[in-house]
Amino acid sequence: MNILLLGSGGREHALAWKIRQSAKVDKLFIAPGNAGTAQAGTNVAIGATDFPAIRAFVLAEQVDMVVVGPEDPLVNGVYDYFRDDPSLSAIPVIGPSKAGARLEGSKDFAKAFMGRHHIPTARYKSVTAHNQQEGEAFLASLRPPYVLKADGLAAGKGVLILHGLEEARRELDGMLHGRFGEAGKTVVIEEFLDGIECSVFVVTDGKEYKILPVAKDYKRIGEGNTGLNTGGMGAVSPVPFADGRFMEKVEERIIRPTIKGLQDEGIDYKGFIFLGLISVEGEPLVIEYNCRMGDPETEVVMLRIGSDLVELLEGVAAGDLAARELAYDPRVAVTVMLVSGGYPGAYEKGKPVSGLDKAGADCILFHAGTKEADGRIVTNGGRVIAVSAYGEDMEKALARSFAGAEAICFDGKYFRSDIGFDL
Ligand code: AMP
Ligand code: GLY
Repeated sequence: MNILLLGSGGREHALAWKIRQSAKVDKLFIAPGNAGTAQAGTNVAIGATDFPAIRAFVLAEQVDMVVVGPEDPLVNGVYDYFRDDPSLSAIPVIGPSKAGARLEGSKDFAKAFMGRHHIPTARYKSVTAHNQQEGEAFLASLRPPYVLKADGLAAGKGVLILHGLEEARRELDGMLHGRFGEAGKTVVIEEFLDGIECSVFVVTDGKEYKILPVAKDYKRIGEGNTGLNTGGMGAVSPVPFADGRFMEKVEERIIRPTIKGLQDEGIDYKGFIFLGLISVEGEPLVIEYNCRMGDPETEVVMLRIGSDLVELLEGVAAGDLAARELAYDPRVAVTVMLVSGGYPGAYEKGKPVSGLDKAGADCILFHAGTKEADGRIVTNGGRVIAVSAYGEDMEKALARSFAGAEAICFDGKYFRSDIGFDL
């Protein structure tokens, strides 16, 4: 079969690497891809949200399945676009409908959904400029710190955690008056949960589901989880605290009610669900839903899937996921993200990347922000390369990733050397 994968980051390179291993695949295309995905398939110069161009390409190249990496095309309705077009409707899109993508696209919708289905999450109140005073009263009823979330997509920057009540009131006012544009005109105010986070990935055909390997990502730029939030500086899988007992609770209290809730509400959902969870004294609560795989979690989750990913995706499309095989690789997988100097603030692009061949046979390199220019690979984003590795334990896997991270060079390279420190 021929597959078109949408997206251009490290997540998409990891998906492409795994899809490429399947004997079921003839041609793999990535739109728009990066210098890394070009090693696993053919990049095509089409934006991931350019639906008319995707339509033309899919028909011309006889694509049999579209796999969606990032949230934007899903929130914009790529699934619905295919379903509603007679010439595309037979081609499965792996990802939820626009209605399903609201689990990520609207935090207000996600919180209300969890409320309707009794899924454990932080107490909250949604406010707009019209009921700002109620929001202020809710803030005053909470203990610090205070959590404010822009309702809409804000590229991972829409969450503020504030220590003082005055500051929280001020930021709420700023958000309601356009600080995050339209995305922040509705703000979800949440109770702060104190615990340890992990990422649980579920793949569903809308009725049945399978749980993929659990991962933990490291979002802050600085060692010891300090400094600004980033798109993710590294990840590990498995997560020791997400043991059998914890995962039973996750399945019972969160995964089953989520799948059933989607069904009961008539929401078409055939794809990945990313549960951002927090364990508070061993009890799981949902911090957020995403309608896609995580980045950089995918750069470890794909290493830990021991069976054919395309087999699962076929099950999603055919609606017989329960009959498909999913095997876990027993080894530990880790990834360490190399980023551009200055990231997540301003940074320069176009720095030549060297040492990729020296990173060792022990590492699997997933390109996040690279491109080819004049026959050389240059940086093309804040996150540049995810250096992934296997090991019998986390220490051994990390030693391999860090050695690879040292061997790769580009001007301004930075990485966190404490990934996994808290496990
Ligand atoms: P989100 O975009 O919802 O994942 O939020 C980004 C990050 O903010 C999360 O990964 C958490 O680290 C933190 N966060 C969000 N909501 C809460 C909460 N209610 N309590 C504690 N931390 C939170
Ligand atoms: N690693 C978090 C995310 O992909 O949103």
